[in-house]
Amino acid sequence: MAYYSIVEVCDREKKEKLALLCDNQPMIAKAPLVWIFLADAQKWLNYYHESGAVEKANDLPYRPIGLGDLHLALQDTIIAAHNAVIAAEALGLGSCYIGDVIENFEELSDLLHLSGSVIPGAMVIFGYPKTDNAVKPTPRCPVDSIFMKDSYREPHLKEMEAAYFEHEEQKRRIQSLPYENTGTLADFYYRRKHTSAFMREMNRSTEVMFRRWVEGDS
Ligand SMILES: Cc1cc2nc3c(=O)[nH]c(=O)nc-3n(C[C@H](O)[C@H](O)[C@H](O)COP(=O)(O)O)c2cc1C
Repeated sequence: MAYYSIVEVCDREKKEKLALLCDNQPMIAKAPLVWIFLADAQKWLNYYHESGAVEKANDLPYRPIGLGDLHLALQDTIIAAHNAVIAAEALGLGSCYIGDVIENFEELSDLLHLSGSVIPGAMVIFGYPKTDNAVKPTPRCPVDSIFMKDSYREPHLKEMEAAYFEHEEQKRRIQSLPYENTGTLADFYYRRKHTSAFMREMNRSTEVMFRRWVEGDS
């Protein structure tokens, strides 16, 4: 039971508009393949109503769509997106998630003609990877800093410093930490991401889309 749909954006003008809506990232318009993975309960609601399944089951109380459906549909959608990423890699293609697809929901919805309980879950652009290996991968956290057994242990300063030590060192080497490179990785992400305009917009837009998911178009 696929709780998702995929829109491939091919139209040049749409790709350009999409690039603007996704925090103005021109690489989106230039990408050879652009896929938007939508969490989609609407098609199932349509099926239940239009097939008469709802009417036939009049012994059952009608259950409106809710946040549980949303959570499950997002899992489905993101699994589909990541399978596409892995398949692309196996074919020697490159891919990049575009998190900014959850911004500007109203305009995205108009652009793609979304309605009812259909919202963006993920977006991936595909292309041909550079061969010069110019991009240094982000250091990974040590496994024991993210993997916990039997119960959750809330990480605090000591654990976070240990987990992100290498990442912080990499940023310090390329002189990209704030406060003239004397700052920490926390300073970097707090300034660059947590307090950014794009995160504010993601939060505004997500509130609108989650509300429409449960309320429909009405
Ligand atoms: C959820 C998610 C959203 C992302 N959104 C963007 C984006 O909007 N623009 C972008 O250039 N890269 C985006 N990326 C890619 C990251 O910036 C990064 O290049 C990529 O995850 C590779 O990182 P790695 O070095 O950790 O492997 C995103 C990655 C993830 C996982």
